[in-house]
Amino acid sequence: MQSSGGSQVLAKQEVFHAKVTAGEQLLYFFVADCPDGWAVSVHYPREGEPFSLCELPELEDAKRHAQGWVGLVHNVKDPLEWIPGLPPVAQPEPLIRNVSDTARWVAYYRAEESSRPDAVFNDPFARRLAGERGEQIARAGPFLQKTSWPFVARTYLSDQFILEQIQQGADMVVNLAAGLDARPYRMALPSTLKWIEVDLPEILAHKEEILGNEKSVCALERIRLDLSDVAARRQLFQDMGSKANRALIVSEGLLAYLTEDEVGSLARDLAVPKSFQNWLLDFGSPALMKMLQKKMRAQMTQAPFKFAPAAGPEFFTPHGWKLVKAESVFKTAARLKRLPFPLSLFALLPDSGEFNANRPWSAACLFEKR
Ligand SMILES: C[S@@+](CC[C@H](N)C(=O)[O-])C[C@H]1O[C@@H](n2cnc3c(N)ncnc32)[C@H](O)[C@@H]1O
Repeated sequence: MQSSGGSQVLAKQEVFHAKVTAGEQLLYFFVADCPDGWAVSVHYPREGEPFSLCELPELEDAKRHAQGWVGLVHNVKDPLEWIPGLPPVAQPEPLIRNVSDTARWVAYYRAEESSRPDAVFNDPFARRLAGERGEQIARAGPFLQKTSWPFVARTYLSDQFILEQIQQGADMVVNLAAGLDARPYRMALPSTLKWIEVDLPEILAHKEEILGNEKSVCALERIRLDLSDVAARRQLFQDMGSKANRALIVSEGLLAYLTEDEVGSLARDLAVPKSFQNWLLDFGSPALMKMLQKKMRAQMTQAPFKFAPAAGPEFFTPHGWKLVKAESVFKTAARLKRLPFPLSLFALLPDSGEFNANRPWSAACLFEKR
């Protein structure tokens, strides 16, 4: 057996039994020297899937070729990086192809919650919006299958915060990175409320295709915009700001995918329009991000988690925003009885629910302009 960069190349006669462990990027492959070049066959077993090379028909092919190799690669995306002289093979498309696919993923969790008899919200559109890809992502491995609770708790908390803000006089909601959120269709909102959804073009096109002629309960406008386009977003904020007396900004599930610099810059731009008075956002602690990066590394290659400020909610203060309240996602999920076992046992331990950079923590937070 040869070794290369944490990888193994097994001689053609060897058999191998293995199981992909959580978070591991693993593939196995067969290489054969054919008259017209190299033949390569690459397989990506799914997390938790046991496999045995000796049972695969390709092994017989590999054995038949004098130059055949069977290999197993740990945490190397492309076996050809280290087998010189071989032509490249096409990589399979990742399940999460880009950051907008994360909207399909979380919509699936909303669909699952909505189908429960004791659902804490009901989103009748979520299943169709999530589509097959949303379901595949949410079912990609044991960790994701057990991780609907933070999204259910976050949605539940955001619903409450939004209703409170409207009761207190908000006449506009600007939902940044709205994705496949269907609140303007599913919540009891005043018909006079202005609701603006902003997201990237592809996901909003998908949403409009699914929602077709469904009627929203309030005045809904959709804007296709890349929020990293600073000049365009400043213009949008100015336009929206001039149409509201008191606007609530929502950015549910967006900040995790931005850097600290990007979040700081967005926060400062949002602080400019006078009518933008409150901001509902969610984020996690550095300890949580580290854990998620480890557990979801294989799925999140195209949409890595980046934002988890060590300063916690204080991060936003120099950028113009003051914390009003933070509701722990974990504690809320415990209250709603959505935590899987054995996490539900941790919820019994005394915990203030306050931000702590060194412990897994995430919250739905309401900020007001300083
Ligand atoms: C996890 S999803 C959250 C969607 C929705 N807020 C929800 O909670 O269901 C992240 C969303 O951020 C959007 N997004 C990420 N970067 C963006 C950008 N630069 N401009 C606009 N939208 C962006 C994605 O398209 C995606 O819809």
